[in-house]
Amino acid sequence: MKKTKYAFSTSTVDCYVDANFKDLDQLVDRNKAIIITDENIFNSHKSKFKNWNVITLKPGEEYKVQATVDAVISQLIDFQADRQTTLVGVGGGVITDLTGYIASVYMRGIRFGFVPTSLLAMVDASIGGKNGIDVGEYKNMVGIIRQPSFLFYDLAFLKTLPDTEWSNGFAEIIKHACILDKNLFLLIEKNKLSGVKRNKKLLTEIVLKNIKIKIGIVQKDEFETGDRKLLNFGHTLGHALETQYELTHGQAVSLGMVFAAWMSEKYLGFKDSIRIENVLTNYGLPIRALFDVNKVFRILKMDKKRVSNKMSYILLKQMGKGCIHQFEVDSLDVEMTEFNKLNKS
Ligand code: GLY
Repeated sequence: MKKTKYAFSTSTVDCYVDANFKDLDQLVDRNKAIIITDENIFNSHKSKFKNWNVITLKPGEEYKVQATVDAVISQLIDFQADRQTTLVGVGGGVITDLTGYIASVYMRGIRFGFVPTSLLAMVDASIGGKNGIDVGEYKNMVGIIRQPSFLFYDLAFLKTLPDTEWSNGFAEIIKHACILDKNLFLLIEKNKLSGVKRNKKLLTEIVLKNIKIKIGIVQKDEFETGDRKLLNFGHTLGHALETQYELTHGQAVSLGMVFAAWMSEKYLGFKDSIRIENVLTNYGLPIRALFDVNKVFRILKMDKKRVSNKMSYILLKQMGKGCIHQFEVDSLDVEMTEFNKLNKS
């Protein structure tokens, strides 16, 4: 297995990019590891989990809450997990978030690693060390920044991925391209979701590029005091929409990116909104939706990027060049109202 080591402020992450799940026991002793996964993944890949200690959770963002943390901690105590135990999150973003958070608080912190199984988790959610839970309507309101010991990628998990999950992953891939990598944008613009799914070489290239983009930006700014904020492109409105409407994360972020691209045109003379909208459409993501501005603004103004009455909002100067723009929080209410009106006409 090829291993790449990435250094962060207080730890290193071992990254295995073309791994096979059956080799996981080369990294962790089965007797000292506890896998955390969800029912969907467990049922689709039952044989893989044979002879491992497994905690299986109900799938879905609604379980990314303190009650699940408490339930898992009780099970860890039943397993007599101690400071030598490694928790391995095998799943999408909900599982990796929960696993990283639980491992960081159980006995004040034990070792953990991730096997991301969804495209979104492979290119984004498993990377970066931010792991936490939602509180009521507020996403990721409680959590930590602590890096996993390892990231273990087995792309065979993507074989059972439903279509909406492919689009979810591509929302983050398109985000990376917009803020940091014009060439990646050109590559995905030349293709469509159906083509990428069929082309293993291209898919692997896209996944690898995105792992490097995400790791690179986190290495430079692990605690989000500067450029890491760029990764929030599309997410400020996106998170607010996701909590108020029945949308997947990718759908909500897609709509958030369309709004941010429109704001970029208005404030920075950005010229490529249409290209972004076309790419989003080609990867199965929505670009138009009317929403209740009051309802969404109530959530948006509690975003973690707000400091007093100012909000850092991520815009684009050019394709592949994101930047941080400060807005008065109340002015975003006005902008969203205008954007909504345009969508109506
Ligand atoms: N867990 C995702 C991140 O740290 O950005």
